[in-house]
Amino acid sequence: MEPFVFFGGKGGVGKTTVSCAYGLKCARDGHRTLVVSTDPAHSVTDVFDQPFGDSPRPVEGVDRLEAMQIDPEDEVTRHLDEIRQDLSEQVSASMVNEINRQLEMAHGTPGAYESALFDRFIEVMRNADDYDRVVFDTAPSGSTLRLLGLPDLLEDWIDRLMYKRRTSIDLFEKAAVGNNEPRRVMEGDPVLARLEERKSFFEFAGSALHDDAAFFLVLNPDELSVNETRRSIADIREKDLAVRGLVANKLTPSPDPDENGRGARYLRERVATEEERLETIRSEFEPPLVAEIGWRSSEVKGDLLDDVAAELDIATAVEPPTHV
Ligand SMILES: Nc1ncnc2c1ncn2[C@@H]1O[C@H](COP(=O)(O)OP(=O)(O)OP(=O)(O)O)[C@@H](O)[C@H]1O
Ligand SMILES: [Mg+2]
Repeated sequence: MEPFVFFGGKGGVGKTTVSCAYGLKCARDGHRTLVVSTDPAHSVTDVFDQPFGDSPRPVEGVDRLEAMQIDPEDEVTRHLDEIRQDLSEQVSASMVNEINRQLEMAHGTPGAYESALFDRFIEVMRNADDYDRVVFDTAPSGSTLRLLGLPDLLEDWIDRLMYKRRTSIDLFEKAAVGNNEPRRVMEGDPVLARLEERKSFFEFAGSALHDDAAFFLVLNPDELSVNETRRSIADIREKDLAVRGLVANKLTPSPDPDENGRGARYLRERVATEEERLETIRSEFEPPLVAEIGWRSSEVKGDLLDDVAAELDIATAVEPPTHV
């Protein structure tokens, strides 16, 4: 299995639970593991009953397992502050107010969360030397999936920006001939340097996502979730990435065969309906079902998490990364 493993899926299907269970499994199998969650509501903190923050902290009672919780809101603020800092070094004082106004507005725009989170994910991947495996518990699928297509798009975009910047510097240099002080010089240009840095960031992101990451989708046996999964598989394929496997969670438990009360009949019908949906998944969906996890009567934490971990048929052994 690749060093980076992502679990995606619709809201509430069990991404956080499955990410933590898989992280636990990896750690128990001897791999130094980090679980990264981006969900401020129900998250690693609830599952492990222990506070987590912005940087990795050991999970109590489990060797080799650490977790961190990224708050998207803080991430956007930090991201915009960095941009503000960057820009104010490069523009005139009169522009700074305008930039501040624009950035305030950018805070609430669609995509701000995604782009800040994307940067943070890649940053975590770039600094993952202390771990054999990093497990990403991603936000509900749509937005996260869009992120995966970003590196290619942005690399092209940056190429164009760099071309424009070079052309503009070139023009200035030509215009300054005869005048001993060219106003802009290609060498050491801060804008070009920054663009170059972003470009290598996206190159890393592209190769890490393509070569060193595996994607799993968590689903529940209801029609909405199954349909959404079908779409997500197609979306991911469109980005030249593949879904490695599907985790079916919250399956209704079967009643004992000798029980025939109303509750038992209801459960039996539900089990039959869910079995049909699972059959559809097995026969029509390309990625294999790698786990069928029963619906427990309480939240999955503590010993229950070990039980769920045992039900995941997902390898934990780590292939060495190919990205450098
Ligand atoms: N197999 C299960 N049996 C019982 N409860 C479960 C099971 N799987 C998940 N849950 C519970 O369902 C709730 C949602 O699960 P979880 O938080 O893992 O989903 P999620 O996909 O991460 O949700 P979100 O989209 O909000 O981040 C939690 O309270 C969790 O404990
Ligand atoms: Mg979650």
